[in-house]
Amino acid sequence: MLNIGIIGVGTVGQSVCQILEDNKDIITARAGVELNVVSGVVNNLSKERDVSIKLTNNVDDILNDDSIDIVVELMGGVEQPYDIVKKALEKGKAVVTANKALLAYHRYELQEIAGDTAFEYEAAVAGGIPIINALRDGLTANHIESIRGIINGTCNYMLDKMINENVEYDVILKEAQELGYAEADPTFDVGGFDAAHKLLILASIAYGIDAKPEDILIEGIENIASEDIAYAKEFNYSLKLLGIAKKKGNKVELRVHSVLIPNTQMIAKIDGVMNGVSVVGDKVGETLYYGAGAGGDVTASAVIANIVDIARRGKGSPMLGYTRALEDGLTLASKDDIETKYYLRIKVQDKSGVLSQVAKILGDKNISIETMLQKPLNDTHANLLLSTHTCNEKDIKEAMNAIESLDFVDGNIAMIRIEIGRASCRERV
Ligand code: HSE
Repeated sequence: MLNIGIIGVGTVGQSVCQILEDNKDIITARAGVELNVVSGVVNNLSKERDVSIKLTNNVDDILNDDSIDIVVELMGGVEQPYDIVKKALEKGKAVVTANKALLAYHRYELQEIAGDTAFEYEAAVAGGIPIINALRDGLTANHIESIRGIINGTCNYMLDKMINENVEYDVILKEAQELGYAEADPTFDVGGFDAAHKLLILASIAYGIDAKPEDILIEGIENIASEDIAYAKEFNYSLKLLGIAKKKGNKVELRVHSVLIPNTQMIAKIDGVMNGVSVVGDKVGETLYYGAGAGGDVTASAVIANIVDIARRGKGSPMLGYTRALEDGLTLASKDDIETKYYLRIKVQDKSGVLSQVAKILGDKNISIETMLQKPLNDTHANLLLSTHTCNEKDIKEAMNAIESLDFVDGNIAMIRIEIGRASCRERV
């Protein structure tokens, strides 16, 4: 028998207990041993909970209980769970956590402390989708060329409603909160931070890249205007918030931002609150993983998968043994060195010479225009909508600044990166 202590018995913790009971037959058969939740730690002992396990409000009751083999951390936050997980690992207890923020900041330190002790976190990325398992095990023979993930259900739900049902941003954010999709502080979702935490975890497993949120480009969905949504629809693009990891030579780009992505791409078809992750391996080509990214049973499904894995193997971690980049010389690309295509919307006075000056600034930066369209707004003004061929982030930002300072340009330029994807190895054969 393996004994489990749960720290944080909220929605997910209660689901873990319930599923271990409901599916006890198959879980025991698959684990090869009975799994027994001994106790759970909660803040408020008087709150009603749907579990039959012993509850305590003292975390030491679990940390100091030598009979407990596996600690499941489901409390949220960063520094407090860090101390608890650290202590549990130091005591030789295996740890399973669903805490993406904790991992975004401390995964390498905790891995170091864990050593051969199991430290697993499938539920931290894309909820019920076994994406960490896929990267660690299923795709282990591959160099990972790219990961592109819809890994924040709230943003995907909101963008879907904005583009397909013309719902206003504020209205749909409120609805996402009421439906329970959004984090307690929704700026984590709409600002791209939740997706960034998850992307960093995946990048560690795929590349051995140790980066913190501050090191990468993170933009949210707060500034998307209705004119840009109309453009996306007109030109058969979907609008998504993607977490992107791309290997280019010995650099890895890690970035989270909204993208225009052709409707024909598989990942563009992931709608509503669902999550989806496309991974391209150098041998396998593109693989795609789809499923629910949040919810009690969904998250508990992944937590229990880790517990069963520990029961079977006794040790293991998605990053076990990696103290450096997986490939020699592989490092994080600087934010300035990102290369992609861009969509720009520039509001201008509609008079002669405007287009040539905009084109000259872009040309001087070696930025090539792929498509261009002018949409009259009234007798005096128009929107210039243009897309570029692949170019460099620093160059486009400098060009945008230069264009914005022209006296016939009104306000700031709207910019959205265009994700054209990359052919999988099968398509490239
Ligand atoms: N707020 C997150 C989301 C929950 O919307 O995807 C799961 O991490």
